[in-house]
Amino acid sequence: IRHLREAADLDAENATLILDTARELARLTGGREVKKLPTLRGRTVVNLFYEDSTRTRISFEAAAKRLSADVINFSAKGSSVSKGESLKDTALTLQAMGADAVVIRHGASGAPHRLANWVDGSVVNAGDGTHEHPTQALLDAFTMRERLGRLAGLNVTIVGDVLHSRVARSNVVLLGTLGAKVTLVGPPTLIPVDITNAEVSYDLDAVLPASDVVMMLRVQHERMSASYFPSAREYSRRYGMDGARMRRLPEHAIVMHPGPMNRGMEISPEVADSPRSTIVEQVANGVSVRMAVLYLLLGGK
Ligand code: CP
Repeated sequence: IRHLREAADLDAENATLILDTARELARLTGGREVKKLPTLRGRTVVNLFYEDSTRTRISFEAAAKRLSADVINFSAKGSSVSKGESLKDTALTLQAMGADAVVIRHGASGAPHRLANWVDGSVVNAGDGTHEHPTQALLDAFTMRERLGRLAGLNVTIVGDVLHSRVARSNVVLLGTLGAKVTLVGPPTLIPVDITNAEVSYDLDAVLPASDVVMMLRVQHERMSASYFPSAREYSRRYGMDGARMRRLPEHAIVMHPGPMNRGMEISPEVADSPRSTIVEQVANGVSVRMAVLYLLLGGK
């Protein structure tokens, strides 16, 4: 494949190849002394971020550098975007500087698809609007497989503000491709009607005992209309993951969150900091998975 615009760009074989490659790259570069590999020496990766990010932007930068690529970080804030320059003209400018891959985060759903028509290099979606965030889904799948040993047949429960969640959309597609069963749980106003390959429940307590994985989603206040949202206290009471709910899970089950978290809203500190939480592992795994994506898209040697 040339681009990773959405999870549907990956069939089971390609997705598994990325996860296996990430594991091998983690083995080669992991440990206390992080080693660099020469595989992308002479290649240029541009991080084109129109929306804020901590984890994704830094981990793509770390991933590219660990593969010895040159990295250009572009943030819309402080750029000529403030003078009205379009995405296309920005992309062509970066193209002229010799980008082999453009990693894009943008507030508009579909921006990576449009970008792929304008640049010669590979396009990687780092989150577009409420549409998709495929490398987050890959690092989530990697984390599940590392912790639980498999993906096929897992019961994965995704909880909360699904409506605005590009993480949820990518996870539903990728986990379906890899044979896991997904159940979406949240207030009826925050469950979209267009996701068809997942079960839906409005009762979190009912689904917990059969869940292998519970993925809590951030409540995206910045994308929220007041009419969608119950009060914070009501939301937390019905859909928040606290210690009591965590103890309803099977012993082997894990609790995930893509970050950033609203501690005390969708997840309590007791759960976020517990041994069942994979939140910090997800961040570390993100570097290995993004290395694998860049390596495979750019044909690293
Ligand atoms: N999970 C995630 O995309 O986090 P950032 O917004 O910090 O990149």
